[in-house]
Formats: sequence, structure tokens, C-alpha cells
Amino acid sequence: MNLILLGPPGAGKGTQAKRLQEKHGIAQISTGDMLRAEVASGSPIGLEAKAIMEAGKLVPDALITSMLANRLQGADCAKGFILDGFPRTVPQAEALDAMLDGLGIGLDAVIELKVDDALLVERIAGRFTCKSCGASFHDSFSRPKKDGVCDSCGGTEFVRRSDDRRETVAARLEAYHSQTAPLLPYYAGRGRLRTVDGMAEMDMVSRDIAAVLNGAG
Ligand code: AP5
Repeated sequence: MNLILLGPPGAGKGTQAKRLQEKHGIAQISTGDMLRAEVASGSPIGLEAKAIMEAGKLVPDALITSMLANRLQGADCAKGFILDGFPRTVPQAEALDAMLDGLGIGLDAVIELKVDDALLVERIAGRFTCKSCGASFHDSFSRPKKDGVCDSCGGTEFVRRSDDRRETVAARLEAYHSQTAPLLPYYAGRGRLRTVDGMAEMDMVSRDIAAVLNGAG
């Protein structure tokens, strides 16, 4: 199963992608996570991406598509993948079409998680993740069952992303509306787009995605 999760920052792409990965045994490919790993390692890609990400802008298409071309050939993609945060521009979508054609792979669905901007700011500003395993939590919507302890791995250290400050979130939303939203008609025109209410409670969103994947959405 090969999927794209499309939606603005904070829509729940990472949350739902992790659930789909666990449920279907397919790879979660988050270009944001890949870039953050490059930044953390101080690689040339990371050095180029760091300031762009902290400004809430998109990194250049050529950089991200070459990263993704290698990643799609990873052994963990054999059963399929969920693209979380890619493509984000029409040129990226065109590059992806060419890559998938070259690999003889088709896309099963492009799922849009639709959420209002005002809620996105609340979601992002309250987000924190486990430093050990990356599990995602939220100050109001999804606190660990035991305060200060990760539900998934028992870790006790948590981190907040440097691009999750309110002023940067506004720039990220602007980038979404001007550069990524044109992908909605791009995939609708190809008969691939399905839209799910991303404002619903997390388990309901998961159920709606499952319904789409079962052909009932
Ligand atoms: P990236 O890491 O992809 O971030 P993003 O798209 O901005 O998305 P987020 O990770 O912020 O949100 P999400 O939709 O995954 O939501 P989450 O599940 O965490 O990109 C970061 C940067 O990298 C970009 O700005 C850009 O610079 C660069 N980049 C990456 N890919 C690129 C590309 N292809 N091209 C160019 N540049 C690229 O949920 C958010 C919070 O809400 C969490 O706390 C969660 O617990 C909570 N939550 C989730 N669902 C629900 C729900 N249903 N109800 C209540 N709370 C919920």
C-alpha cells in the first residue's frame, strides 16, 4: 500500500502516519524528520536546510527530491510507504510521479487531512515529543498517561521543535496555502484525492482513514 498524507502543519500527518505504519507494516517517510536528522548531524544538507526550516519556509525542491529518491528504495519500503510531508509543491509531485513510474510503483491514495488554521496553531504550539522514541504528545489534547513519562517507551525527556514557535507557524501556514494547497486540485484531477476531517478526535480520524483505504470513504 502506497499512500500520501497531505495537509497543513499540525494537521496530524505524523500522528496518523505512525498509526498506519504500525497497522500495515509499511514505511513512514517523513521528509521533515529526515531533514531534522540532517540538521542534527551537521551534514551539508542539514546546514543548507536549518535556517530555511527555522524561518518556516520550504527547502529547495531539488534537495528534497534527491533525498526522497534514495529513501524510496529502502528495504523497509518493500511492502509500501506513507509519504508524510512530501510532496509539498507541484514540481515535487511531478518528480514523484516520474520516480514512481521509474520504479513501477502506483499510488493507492492521497489523503488530505483538513483542519482550520486557528486549530493548527493551538496544536503546534502545544506539541512535544519523546526524545528517545519520537512519540508525539500535546499539552492539552494528548498528554502522557503518567506525567513526564512517555507512554510508548518510558522515556522521561521530551523536546519541542524550534520551528513550533507561534511566529514561525504563521510562515509555515503561509507556505502551505501558497505552495502546497495547489496539490489538492493536482491529485483531485487524477482521481486520487480523498479528504478526511482532521479536526475530529484522533481515533475518529484513524477510523475515517481506514474507511477510505477500505474503499468506503
Ligand atoms: P514537517 O516536519 O513535515 O512538518 P509539518 O508538515 O509542518 O507538519 P508537522 O510535523 O508540524 O505536523 P503534522 O501534520 O505531522 O501533525 P502532528 O501529527 O505532529 O516539516 C518541517 C519543515 O521541514 C517544513 O516547514 C520545511 O521547512 C521542511 N520540509 C519538510 N518536508 C519538505 C518538503 N517536502 N519540501 C520542502 N521543505 C520540506 O500533530 C500535531 C499536534 O497535534 C501533536 O501534538 C498531536 O498530538 C496533535 N494532534 C494530532 N492529531 C490530532 C487530533 N485529531 N486531535 C487533537 N490533537 C491532534
